[in-house]
Amino acid sequence: MDLSIKSFEDYQKVYQHSVEQPEQFWDTVASSFVWKKKWNKVLDWNFKEPDINWFVGGKLNITENCLDRHLADKGDQPALIWEPNDPEEHHRAFTYKQLHQKVCLFANVLKNNGAKKGDRICIYMPMVPELAVAVLACARIGAIHSVVFGGFSAQSIADRIQDANCSMVITADGSYRGTKEVPLKNVMDDALVQCPSVKRVIVLTRSRTPISMIKGRDVWWEDEIKKVETLGMLNCPAEEMDAEDPLFILYTSGSTGKPKGVVHTCGGYMVYAGYSFQNVFQYQPEEVYFCTADIGWITGHTYIVYGPLAMGATSLLFEGVPTWPDAGRFWDIVAEYKVNILYTAPTAIRSLMQFGLDFVKDKDLSSLRVLGSVGEPINEEAWNWYHEHIGKKNCPIVDTWWQTETGGILISPLANVTPVKPCFATLPLPGIQPILVDEKGEEIIGNGVSGNLCIKFPWPGMLRTTYGDHERCRVNYFATYENLYFTGDGCMRDEDGYYRITGRVDDVINVSGHRIGTAEVENAINMFSDVVESAVVGYPHDIKGQGIYAYVILSRETDDDELTRKDISMTVSRIIGAIAKPDKIQFVSGLPKTRSGKIMRRILRKIAEGEVNSLGDTSTLLDPAVVDEIKNGRLS
Ligand code: WTA
Repeated sequence: MDLSIKSFEDYQKVYQHSVEQPEQFWDTVASSFVWKKKWNKVLDWNFKEPDINWFVGGKLNITENCLDRHLADKGDQPALIWEPNDPEEHHRAFTYKQLHQKVCLFANVLKNNGAKKGDRICIYMPMVPELAVAVLACARIGAIHSVVFGGFSAQSIADRIQDANCSMVITADGSYRGTKEVPLKNVMDDALVQCPSVKRVIVLTRSRTPISMIKGRDVWWEDEIKKVETLGMLNCPAEEMDAEDPLFILYTSGSTGKPKGVVHTCGGYMVYAGYSFQNVFQYQPEEVYFCTADIGWITGHTYIVYGPLAMGATSLLFEGVPTWPDAGRFWDIVAEYKVNILYTAPTAIRSLMQFGLDFVKDKDLSSLRVLGSVGEPINEEAWNWYHEHIGKKNCPIVDTWWQTETGGILISPLANVTPVKPCFATLPLPGIQPILVDEKGEEIIGNGVSGNLCIKFPWPGMLRTTYGDHERCRVNYFATYENLYFTGDGCMRDEDGYYRITGRVDDVINVSGHRIGTAEVENAINMFSDVVESAVVGYPHDIKGQGIYAYVILSRETDDDELTRKDISMTVSRIIGAIAKPDKIQFVSGLPKTRSGKIMRRILRKIAEGEVNSLGDTSTLLDPAVVDEIKNGRLS
């Protein structure tokens, strides 16, 4: 069945229906997928506990929807195209038939190595096709994957493996990112010292970086594939999963404590990933779709792997970085594969803009039809550049707002359907009911208003829990405002009812589209031996969107400030990963605190932003003099 919305009138009608009759609406959408057994009830929910169940009693396997169902009519169409880091290396492509075979084989490898339904498997891999294969193979057998982005440190990996109690790891010897080589297996080995639950490590050959293979624990991907081939285990029936069985865990940062494992389930996530992919990008048969994200983040999960494959699309996977060998790499890829839909992040656009038009002007971008943006607010300058120089003013830009927790895009234009406005995520997708509330949780009615963005009705792709700690899920998302899912984002709704996301209102910062909790960075800084206390805030950064500004109290004078800054950065890199390194570290003798000992971050944020003359009320401070010292020592 065709679920594509074709015109704005159509959208308005469908949206209206989806709000008035949500169960009927989602029943129809879900019916366009392949189920092993139909559901008894579309939805059962409350936001109090929360307890959210979609397609109750339904049975399915998402990989049958992403692979098997396309074999008959799209078997020979490319499912995945892979562009390696080095443009001189051969690219690879897999048809739906080939991908199906590879997934079945590797699913058998997992089984052969003892994995079963419900087991947690950590995946730490480069952006190679085998990463998608590993993800789908887990789903095939009903194991829960927990993909960890290749840039995280050993400590971060260990935290995630322990939290989910993973029994298996899938990794590679190393990965390439531009001119850099990352020794993935070595990092993983450091992590595994702390992870006795892991009994098996499957290692893909990618870089031939020297590694140690531990007897009885580590095996090579290629050897294991040969084994199942020899055994004739070529096919692997898809495990029957309940709609509400977990599909994966993905860790993301919040305003407090360690990253939490967001849990998505099989049925609802599949329906939402497929439906949103189809409608936002208006994918047409045989088009080439290129999402530049990493599968280590939610964007890669939903819009490189599951969404596009569920809809039978051709999804392009890129291993490298936008600036190597030069800043024209994306445009070379677009030209080479005649990419029709390009989905990237504002930070990438801003970093490429700096190089001027030399890397764009001779590239054939005529295949492009739709451009997408995700991960952070897109500033007007970047929006205009993208529109003018990449889209040649001919391609709609879909500014897609969503989160790890939402599973898929919630507010976005539908390409060529919704009239766009620069920097606006515009309108909610069918089934999504956003509302703005004030600090007290009162709904802000009407247009031309701003508030905290909440969603008042469930949608199939939403998180169900945070792994191993349901209370944390309740407190984080469902307790701030009664009966609402709270996003953590601020938002304005203009006179036309269009939504514009203004950024986080909590202590989460968004650095190059990566979510980082300020508390996490503070904890890492505080691990450094000479640090007494620290406070971290975000500040506007030309390329990254937000940068990390750290105020640090040391226990003794440094001989060399620069060296101490590097030591602190190295500590953060070790504890979290290079993505969380502070951009600026200011040494201070104290922090602005209230009489009850609470750090006044509002003031620190203002100073980091350079707005030193509008600090607001400082009368409740314990020691106002510290503010002058911090102002005077501000790093510009
Ligand atoms: C921000 C990424 C403005 C927002 C898919 C959200 C955006 C956080 C947009 C989630 C957008 C994402 N406009 N802000 N189009 N998209 N954000 O979990 O603050 O990595 O809460 O998911 O990114 O980041 P996450």
